This record gives sequence, C-alpha cells and structure tokens, in this order.
Amino acid sequence: MLFAIGLLIAHLSALPTSLAVINLTADMLDQEILDSLLGPDAKYDQRVSPMPNRNEPVIVTVDLYILALSSVDVIRMSFDADFVVRQRWLDRRLNFEKARDHGNHYIAGTPALAQSIWRSDLFFVNARDAAWHEVTRPNTLIRIFPNGTVQLNQRVKASFSCQMQLSAYPFDTQNCQIELGSFGYTNTELVFLWKPDAPFTINTAIKLPQFKLRDYIRTEIYQTAHYTGKFSYLRAYIKFDRDYEYHVTQSLMPCVFLVICSWVSFWLDSEATPARVALGVTTLLAIYTQSAAVRFSLPPVSYLKAIDIWFLICVVFIFGSLIEFALVNYFTRRSLKNPAKHVRSGSFTDLSMKQPSRASAEIDAERTADGDVKTHLTRRLTTVKKRFKKVIDEDRKKAKTIDVVSRVLFPVSFLVCILVFWCVYYVNNDDQ
Ligand SMILES: *[C@@H]1O[C@H](CO)[C@@H](O)[C@H](O)[C@H]1NC(C)=O
Ligand SMILES: *[C@@H]1O[C@H](CO)[C@@H](O)[C@H](O)[C@H]1NC(C)=O
Repeated sequence: MLFAIGLLIAHLSALPTSLAVINLTADMLDQEILDSLLGPDAKYDQRVSPMPNRNEPVIVTVDLYILALSSVDVIRMSFDADFVVRQRWLDRRLNFEKARDHGNHYIAGTPALAQSIWRSDLFFVNARDAAWHEVTRPNTLIRIFPNGTVQLNQRVKASFSCQMQLSAYPFDTQNCQIELGSFGYTNTELVFLWKPDAPFTINTAIKLPQFKLRDYIRTEIYQTAHYTGKFSYLRAYIKFDRDYEYHVTQSLMPCVFLVICSWVSFWLDSEATPARVALGVTTLLAIYTQSAAVRFSLPPVSYLKAIDIWFLICVVFIFGSLIEFALVNYFTRRSLKNPAKHVRSGSFTDLSMKQPSRASAEIDAERTADGDVKTHLTRRLTTVKKRFKKVIDEDRKKAKTIDVVSRVLFPVSFLVCILVFWCVYYVNNDDQ
C-alpha cells in the first residue's frame, strides 16, 4: 500500500503542467475544449497510454460497487454479480486547466467520448462470462477533470467462478473472489490500485435466498508473473455464509424425526413382526429418499460433507433398530422353534429316550397299575410343559430386556452423536 502511494506521489510530482499543443483560452465551451483536446489538430492518439515516453506506469485506481448478487451455484461453482467498476487515472494530454479559470468543472461525456480516449484494458480474471449493460445506452459514465483526471464508470454483469469447499455443508462459508487486472500492460506500464477509501462496497439491500453476506470485505493487490511479464492484479473477497436454517428444517430435522419413528418399534410387542419390520424398513427407505434429494442439489465431491455424516448417523441408528428387532425376534422364537435343544433339564430327553420302550411300558402299566402310570405320565407332561413355558418366558424376558435397554440406549447415544456433530460443524463454523 505504502509502495503504491509512494508510486502515485512520485508519478504526480514528475508531471509537466501541460503537454497539449493546443491553444486553450479561459471559459471555452465544453465542445470547444473537446475539439481542441481531441480534434484532428490536437494529435491525441488513443492507441498510446498516457505515459508514452516514461518508465513509470499509468496508475489506475479502481473501486467496485456491487449492485446485485445472485445464483450462488454450488454445482457450477460460480456466482453472478451485477456491479459498477469505477476507474480513475490521469491523462496529462487531456489537461484543460487553462480553460477553467472560474471553477473546476469537469466535462461529462457520452459513451462516444469514452471510445475516443485511451482506456485501460481491464479484464476480470476469474469471470466465466461477462457483458456490459447497454440499455438504453451503454451504461457508462465518463468525466474529464480539468487537471486531466479521467473518471470512467461502467456497469457490468458477470458470472465469476468460485472454488467452493463443501466439507461443512450446510454450515459452510464460501469465500468467493472477484479478480481483475490488465490484460496487456505489464506492471511497468500499468498498475491497478484499489481506491484508498471504500474500494469495494456492496449494496446493503442484497438478499440472497440461501446465503447471508458477511460485512467483512477484504481487498488485496497482487502480481502474477507470466513469460510475457509481471502483471498487476486486484482481488476482492466476498464471504457468503450459508443460511443453514433452511437445511435444518428441510433435511436435518426430518432425519431426526425418522430416527425417533424407528424407536417406536421398541415399544411394540416383540411378536409384532410385520409392524416392526415395516417400521424399520420404511424409515430406512425414507432416509434414503431424503438424502438422495439433498445429493441431487450438490456436486459429487470426493470428500465427506457434514450432511453426509448426518445422514450416515441417521441411517446407522435406523439400521441399528432393525438389527435390534432381529435380535429380539431371535430370542422370542428360539425356544419355540427348537424346544428340545434349549430345554436342558432332561425332561424332554427322558421322554424321548423312553419313547421306544413306551409301548411295552404302557402295556405293563395297564397290566399292573393302570391308573398309576397314567397319573405319572400326565404329571411328567405337565412338568415338561411348565419347564418349557419357563424357558419361553425366560427368552421372552431376555427379548423384553433388549427392548427396554434399547429404549434408553438408542436415544442417549443418538443425542451424544448429535451433540458431537453440532460441536464439530456448527461451533467450528462460527469461529471462521
Ligand atoms: C495559438 O494562438 C496563437 C495566438 O492566438 C496563434 O498564433 C497560434 O497559431 C495558435 N496555435 C494553434 C496551434 O492554434
Ligand atoms: C485532479 O482533479 C480531481 C478532481 O477535482 C482530483 O480529485 C484529483 O486529485 C486531481 N489530480 C491532481 C493530480 O491534481
């Protein structure tokens, strides 16, 4: 910055009062002044820069006024801006101080005047596409001050590329830039500087649908070296803060509700298989549909985004509740399916081992003490039944315990996950 000011002062002090080989007299009309400055006799050549025979660069001070911002597009990684670019430089050949004895009025010209004088070859480094506004006339303001200072304002609409980082999406902040510089003049011929006061202003009325604009605006001057020479560039930063409220209500909260829905299963009867499976599967499918909808609005980046992690948490919890049901169901049906295997008391085995000799035993019993054996067998059967019931009840109890534990375990661990997620992404984002 200091270097720039020094350059400007050195440059101004070295100026002769007037180079124009014209006769300027006091209180000439603007037309006469222009004729004498730019007419055929004046030998003004717009092809050469205002510093034709010097080793000093032309200093062009620039400021930008953003009128509108729109289409901050994460898929195309670009944003559109409608703005006025204001340039000011000194062209000693246009000095008409002699004709302005009274007052310091500038000459306001039409776009045609701008066409007839030397102008910088400013271009937007990161613009994908840009155009001047030409309705109803080219949106150009040109003023020539008596001391030869030229003020040129032009309105531009452009689409700028912006490398967006989506790893914190939807809690992300995008740092976009507008870069401008001279296309053809190296920094020994032309230097762009930001206007010292208010180099970059944004219309405060701008409202973006998904972003908030940070007040914090930064500008910088930098140079780029190519084999054709070093070029002077300017850069202005715009910070877009994503409005995460929309995403919280549209994607994050529904996901939480779906997970809570899947927990309803823990309160349902362990034998209500269709209900519990249907609940788990439908919530899982709903989550997938939800995350697909979000995925479509984002570019396929190779890294994980915050929203992916969020959906992953939800999917894991819903999947977990399905697995929990599988476990519960297994315990409920284990003893029913293969009772003998699980009844270790021996009642069943006794019975089955005795089976081959049962007929003879029965015959014996009938022969000897008919009623006795019958009561013995029924007693035995009832104990087996009782035992069996006990085993089933034990397994049922196990299943029930899994459900009861899950009722607490799932919500608590989900809450912990949410808190960790929130801390990592939201609090982190606030620090930026
Ligand atoms: C400037 O004015 C003087 C006197 O009026 C005149 O002799 C001279 O030719 C003029 N020069 C030009 C370039 O018009
Ligand atoms: C020329 O005049 C303009 C407008 O009055 C002023 O802002 C600028 O500082 C002047 N430049 C010089 C070199 O005197």
